[in-house]
Amino acid sequence: MSRVVLITGASSGFGYEFSKIFASKGYDLVLIARSEDRLISIKKKLEKKYSIKVYVLVQDLSLENSGKKVYDYTKDNGLAVDILINNAGFGDYGRFADSSLEKQLQMINLNDRVLTELTHLFLRNMIINKSGKILNVASIASFEAGPMMSVYYASKAYVLSFTESLACELKGTGVTVTALCPGPTETGFTKGAEMPDSRLADSFRFTKASDVARYGYKSLMKGEVIAIPGILNKMGVLAVKFLPRSFVRDIVYRFQQ
Ligand SMILES: NC(=O)c1ccc[n+]([C@@H]2O[C@H](COP(=O)([O-])OP(=O)(O)OC[C@H]3O[C@@H](n4cnc5c(N)ncnc54)[C@H](OP(=O)(O)O)[C@@H]3O)[C@@H](O)[C@H]2O)c1
Repeated sequence: MSRVVLITGASSGFGYEFSKIFASKGYDLVLIARSEDRLISIKKKLEKKYSIKVYVLVQDLSLENSGKKVYDYTKDNGLAVDILINNAGFGDYGRFADSSLEKQLQMINLNDRVLTELTHLFLRNMIINKSGKILNVASIASFEAGPMMSVYYASKAYVLSFTESLACELKGTGVTVTALCPGPTETGFTKGAEMPDSRLADSFRFTKASDVARYGYKSLMKGEVIAIPGILNKMGVLAVKFLPRSFVRDIVYRFQQ
């Protein structure tokens, strides 16, 4: 029987890289995003290269009940999802008071609500089957406050906290959950968040999305709970643990302006 992985935000960045990795390992794919053209072209490319089936679902995951629509799509197509990759997400740069409230709420819907909904919907079957893996894409932003991107950082703190708690509850069930915490990486993210050029972030942005996805894949397969790719990101997260929070948020604020 074929193994199935479901990837949200598969049309670019980390999601696309995950699609290529899982396709090369022989998994059938369920790819979800809003950009139909991009998803169809990825489907064609991967089905031509590998003996796999790629299912495409065009869905705005920030909308109410979108998680249920995704779940129903897999049921309607007779697909049992072995691995869930909750990757879709976006950020928004600027002062919270000046921001679009609608955009902040959409971000929470995408980064947190649908991730929670999909995890709940697919977890039950995984526990019954005593097998399954979930990867939640968090960020190094999960470990600190992020002035000028306050809702984004908070949304990623949620992903990490939720994943860690779930990992404890799932011990002994055969199901694992992993939080992947990348640092700044060259993807569509910066453009989507409308971030200005930052010398600090740019100096870290040499990381390739393909390397992050490969690291995430290995950590997921090992069942690690927290996966931080790259030595500089690991050191940054370690430093944050020992520094006063007031100092860390001031530093982040200074660099984000
Ligand atoms: N790049 C970084 O520096 C970085 C660092 C840490 C964490 N992350 C996290 O990594 C994850 C992936 O982002 P990325 O860096 O790969 O950026 P990206 O290239 O912009 O990819 C984002 C993906 O999410 C999808 N998406 C966005 N809004 C959506 C919506 N409303 N409904 C469905 N799909 C939607 C996009 O597809 P469509 O536009 O086609 O819908 C795209 O496939 C995000 O959770 C992000 O927060 C990124």
